Amino acid sequence: MAHGTALPARYAVFGHPVSHSLSPAIHRLFGEQCGIALEYTAIDAAAESFADAVHRFLAGAHGANVTLPHKAAAFALADERSAAASRAGSANVLTRLPNGRLAAHNTDGAGLVRDLVERQRCALAGARVLLLGAGGAARGVAWDLLDAGVQELTIANRTADTAAALAGSLGVTRGRARYWQDLAELGGFDLIVHATSAGMLGQQLELPRSLVGPRTVGYDLSYGAGAQGFLDWARSAGARAACDGLGMLVEQAADAFALWHGRRPDTGPVYARLRTAA
Ligand code: ATR
Repeated sequence: MAHGTALPARYAVFGHPVSHSLSPAIHRLFGEQCGIALEYTAIDAAAESFADAVHRFLAGAHGANVTLPHKAAAFALADERSAAASRAGSANVLTRLPNGRLAAHNTDGAGLVRDLVERQRCALAGARVLLLGAGGAARGVAWDLLDAGVQELTIANRTADTAAALAGSLGVTRGRARYWQDLAELGGFDLIVHATSAGMLGQQLELPRSLVGPRTVGYDLSYGAGAQGFLDWARSAGARAACDGLGMLVEQAADAFALWHGRRPDTGPVYARLRTAA
């Protein structure tokens, strides 16, 4: 039985497409490591059938992860929302509570920060950070970067109004928007977080090399082919490190696992195994 409920230990990740998702493998490895028997599948649901599919699944299961393009819809359908989900306006974790209500949570930002600090040894306290993009992925991590103590979070987006809206909603002077066309005038950053969907769409961003200095870490929130263009650019511009989002994926999954099972697994061996297979 799943932690704290009488429901079977059934879990799933919802996405569209979802066949590429590593979440089933990650949660099964976590389960093996912790001696917790669980079933974890991938469910492909189109936008129009997502809410019905989630309600049907969670009527007889304990929890679900949600990936693109359903994170905002997952947030909207929940009965209760954590602070992390509320500020992002999206959820990557849905949990059926013992009273039958659905709770939304977002572990993406915490996963990014943990991967940056613990695995990539990227100091965030006092750092100058550039966030490229202001869509769902960017909103999912912006507050956590500020919470981690960055000195300045500069948000640049192709559509300037969206960057201004995100910066405004952060409510702190450390978070500010800048025009995409002014990127060449911003100088270098300690960390550049790539959160646009350009790579997933097969589009290459034109970014000025002046954003990168010898201490810069480039981080793409995605992994696989979608991350390649940004990582190649960061390396060629001279970044100290160029990291894809595989570590973030494993860390956000570990936080979901902890929420459901009351125990956070050791992510190191699981990350190493996925990295070797990648
Ligand atoms: P996600 O949930 O993956 O973040 P999204 O909410 O649709 O998806 O946001 C996509 C982000 O990628 C947006 O910031 C988008 O910029 P716009 O707001 O101008 O649309 C950005 N994006 C997508 N393709 C881009 C491109 N070719 N160049 C620059 N930014 C791009």
